[in-house]
Amino acid sequence: MAHSVTLIPGDGIGPEVIEAARQVVAAAGVDVHWHEAEAGAGVVAKYGTPMPDATLNRIREDRVALKGPLTTPIGYGFGSPNVTLRKALDLYVCLRPVSSLPLVPSRYEDVDLIVVRENTEGLYSGVEHLVVPGIAESLKITTEVASVRIAEYTFELARKLGRKRVTSVHKANIMKITDGLFLECCRRVARRYPEVEYQEEIIDALCMKLVKDPTQFDMLLTDNLYGDIVSDLCAGLVGGLGVVPGANLGREWAVFEAVHGSAPDIAGKGMANPLAVILSACMMLEHLEEDAAARRVRDAVTRALGSGVATRDLGGTATTQEFTQAVIAAL
Ligand code: NAI
Repeated sequence: MAHSVTLIPGDGIGPEVIEAARQVVAAAGVDVHWHEAEAGAGVVAKYGTPMPDATLNRIREDRVALKGPLTTPIGYGFGSPNVTLRKALDLYVCLRPVSSLPLVPSRYEDVDLIVVRENTEGLYSGVEHLVVPGIAESLKITTEVASVRIAEYTFELARKLGRKRVTSVHKANIMKITDGLFLECCRRVARRYPEVEYQEEIIDALCMKLVKDPTQFDMLLTDNLYGDIVSDLCAGLVGGLGVVPGANLGREWAVFEAVHGSAPDIAGKGMANPLAVILSACMMLEHLEEDAAARRVRDAVTRALGSGVATRDLGGTATTQEFTQAVIAAL
């Protein structure tokens, strides 16, 4: 039976890397009925919003989406379409596995981290205002419900994958009430999983420790802002933003996307690394219970890299399409 999946090309390098992933999924022999939907800065003139209702409804119907990055203009104007999407579909988990890939040049060879980021609140709640000219306020919203459910998701995943340790990330020494509540919820949930070791790290110290020796961590449980920053830091440990996949998961819907953004500096030049979106598509295939196909694609990626084909961000010379074709040939 064909799977129905919403396909959102997005902005910048989005269309190039999404097309690469679509070709690879087809070559893996999985029958997917793609429904293309629009979102991003490029559709504001047409719809008056970067996240049209029709796109949200399309995902609600298909239940699963593969999404390219969306540009968010800095400063005044529309809020982030990604935040709108995550809140509208209550995609409360942002799951980002960060692993060293064979033959990808990086500082470390044995990184195997999972970042689990709360995706719906915190400082990204979007509750901001100008009090008077020259004074602006942004509210960090932390709720018990959201903190407990992200902690429960993390510990359940640790149990399922046989992971040893969960480290929750905070700044409760300064933000005693908001981060204090987050920590209290994490501790409460941790007590129900005695087989998983529980640790806490202050965000700034964590960043230093990650750079010095990422292998000392296993799973990181974070709020929205810290998770956003730590994900990019972790990407830097394994070869950069071109190689790290991700998923936004809720109880009903799932949207798969790379960690990286729309990379306007290289858009349209055929230079984008499609690997992160191809690996996001692998996570999507696993979600669709197409585990064998996901494994085939992961093996093909390893073989393509092994044959020396790599995009420029990894020190190679291949274009987006040349790397994609190497993966397809390996399949
Ligand atoms: P970015 O991730 O787009 O780019 C950062 C750097 O990494 C750039 O030098 C870029 O060329 C490079 N890079 C990123 N992806 C790459 C790939 N696949 N292959 C090779 N190089 C790659 O971050 P930036 O520049 O801060 O954000 C650009 C726009 O993307 C902003 O509007 C931002 O809001 C948006 N964004 C969207 C995300 C999403 O839709 N999930 C996530 C992050 C940012």
